[in-house]
Amino acid sequence: ASGPLVLGIESSCDDTAAAVVRAGPPGQVEILSSIVVGQEKAHAPYGGVVPEIAARAHAAKLPSVVATALREARVELGELDLIAATAGPGLIGGVVSGLTFAKGLALATGVPLVPVNHLAGHAVSVALEHPIAFPYLLLLVSGGHSQILLVRGAADFLRLGTTIDDAAGEAFDKTAKLLGLPGMGGPAVEAAARGGDPGAYALPQPLAGRPGCDFSFSGLKTAIRQCVVAAGELTETQRADLAAAFQAAAVGHLTKRTHRGLLAARALAPEVTHLVAAGGVAANQALRRALEGVAEQEGWTLVVPSLRYCTDNAAMIALAGAYQLEAVGAGMIDDTLTSVPRS
Ligand code: KG4
Ligand code: ZN
Repeated sequence: ASGPLVLGIESSCDDTAAAVVRAGPPGQVEILSSIVVGQEKAHAPYGGVVPEIAARAHAAKLPSVVATALREARVELGELDLIAATAGPGLIGGVVSGLTFAKGLALATGVPLVPVNHLAGHAVSVALEHPIAFPYLLLLVSGGHSQILLVRGAADFLRLGTTIDDAAGEAFDKTAKLLGLPGMGGPAVEAAARGGDPGAYALPQPLAGRPGCDFSFSGLKTAIRQCVVAAGELTETQRADLAAAFQAAAVGHLTKRTHRGLLAARALAPEVTHLVAAGGVAANQALRRALEGVAEQEGWTLVVPSLRYCTDNAAMIALAGAYQLEAVGAGMIDDTLTSVPRS
């Protein structure tokens, strides 16, 4: 890799992350370090991410996470060509913590700062490891987002679909909670579903017969709640069957809408042949198999980043920052943040 040496900073949800990346074209990126420190324990007593606690934890951890990323990469602050920090969307307290920390670094070192959209980071995460060509179709499914994007370039996205209510990961998490499954929502539902019969419960098909590529998950969540209430105390079998039924319905919905997205993308850009799945829910094996089926049926190829780059990380933010700068030029840099003020 021969591109700029970039420090990435990510703090938009409940992971404090920093990474040092030598940017380059897709598949020719050197990830020199990628540190992710989660906050699960801090939020566990509340059954969800508490914004105030997240912001304080980011503020506390940013210095050591950034220092560790630089040390592991054997890079001094002064050697950096660029600092890239998530500027939204996300929990505002965390975003402000990370962005303000990045501004301080930029001011102290004179290294330019690029603000990065978190979703743009997810959109190019596949390019950290794979020599993929633009344009490609992206299914982005995490705890906070469910989108279908046509990624036309490193800083050129067309949104084909989004959720009209909950995110896919959120639905997995709520289902796990309703079923009383221990541990992290998505993986817990996937594990429980392995022993269950998806046909044991008839769940509604979200947005059945509706055109477009949007998603909806709130109806499934309500249906699961009603089944749980009707059952009273759940037996192990019922728990497994409900997990299996939910997973089958969620995966079916995600796959159907992605198939529509594929056809829409093909109409817009006939040269597209790659489907990318990213975000935490892309770890789901049933979803991967189903997406592989759609891709194969249409003569496309499914590409999924490694799990550590699927979930929130700062390497994707660093790469998105470098690509953004390359795409739009130095005029993109907000140097009112970094230049020495004139008196
Ligand atoms: O990308 P991510 O780490 O963080 C966000 O930006 O939200 O995604 C986390 C989400 C959670 O909702 C989690 O339950 C879900 O991804 N998830 C899964 C699986 N592993 C993680 N959902 C379904 N199946 C899985 N195996
Ligand atoms: Zn994310």
